[in-house]
Amino acid sequence: MSPERSVPSRFGGLVALAMLASNAVADESSLRLKPAADVELVRARCSSCHSIDYIQMNGGFLKRAGWDAEVRKMIKVMGAPVPDGEVERIIEYLATQYGVP
Ligand code: HEC
Repeated sequence: MSPERSVPSRFGGLVALAMLASNAVADESSLRLKPAADVELVRARCSSCHSIDYIQMNGGFLKRAGWDAEVRKMIKVMGAPVPDGEVERIIEYLATQYGVP
């Protein structure tokens, strides 16, 4: 119980905790998107600026047209780097997995 022992062990505990926390976040976001065609594409294109949670948060009330507008806004307004050929695939995934009819 000397101070020389307690200081380094407390530091070690904090590092372990920080690593645990960042692992938990990565696992959660990769598990949360519904598995379907192009889920990896959506994860790659839509999780670099904000959490993939933004999709779940808006899921359930956006129609296809809403997701269409959302994806185009991310590209035009926010500057999301999505090649033309992938836009429709991303919209298709969002509309079928997270859209309302
Ligand atoms: C270049 C950075 C960037 C990328 C890439 C990006 N977004 Fe966003 N997104 C933002 C910003 C900035 C906001 C709004 C600010 C905030 O609330 O954090 C936002 C907000 C959102 C919202 C909340 C509603 C809204 O309009 O504010 C949704 C849903 C969303 N993004 C979906 C997506 C989807 C789907 C993709 C993949 C196509 C994507 N984002 C890729 C930057 C980005």
